[in-house]
Amino acid sequence: MLPPSLSIVPASLHVEALEILLLGLCGVPKENLRVHELCLKSVPNLGSEASEIRILCDLMQPEPAWTVRHVGGSMRGAGADQISVLVRTMVESKASKNVLRLFYLLGYKLDHELLRVGFAFHFQRGAQITVTVSSYSKMLKLHATESIDDNVPVTPGIQMVEVTAPASAENYSEVAAAVSSFCEYLAPLLHLSKPGVSTGVVPTAAAAAASLMSFSGSTNM
Ligand SMILES: *[C@@H]1O[C@H](CO)[C@@H](O)[C@H](O)[C@H]1NC(C)=O
Repeated sequence: MLPPSLSIVPASLHVEALEILLLGLCGVPKENLRVHELCLKSVPNLGSEASEIRILCDLMQPEPAWTVRHVGGSMRGAGADQISVLVRTMVESKASKNVLRLFYLLGYKLDHELLRVGFAFHFQRGAQITVTVSSYSKMLKLHATESIDDNVPVTPGIQMVEVTAPASAENYSEVAAAVSSFCEYLAPLLHLSKPGVSTGVVPTAAAAAASLMSFSGSTNM
């Protein structure tokens, strides 16, 4: 059973309906997502604070493509409390495949590895919005991205839905408004919240999913 307080979608139940809804709203085809995430932590040294970085490997590309990502703290204060999205700094850089070795040399240690599988939509709607629907598995064997059977779902039967957009200090309130208003279109199926805030289940979800599914079924005939 699913804990009712999380803003997540039971995998088999509504994911297909959500995909149909997103396809209609975004007007672009979905992209499949298969990302190997390596979470590294620095060993605190000489009074410096521990830091965490993620090395991502996009497994959908013909040649694995590597990215380094650092996610900073979230914006705080009254202004941050008033908007319904989380604003945080993120630095991302493309990297070559020896990036892992570089971070080991810099004193980082591998904390855990995850395999993220799902799909994404990228489109322009008042901001450059990305919607991802994905689930995470923990990899038991080191770097075992091929043998999915050896991976253990972190949250079995649960998909995570994320809506993100890039913003700057000048335009974040505009971007936050665009993201919030897009999320309202998903309301029949799910309510999204800031990470860590629970929203409860959407009572209309089952009916909305059923009608989306039957609608798409009839257009196929
Ligand atoms: C806001 O600024 C960021 C960073 O410069 C940019 O990538 C994004 O497209 C801007 N968004 C809007 C809606 O102007």
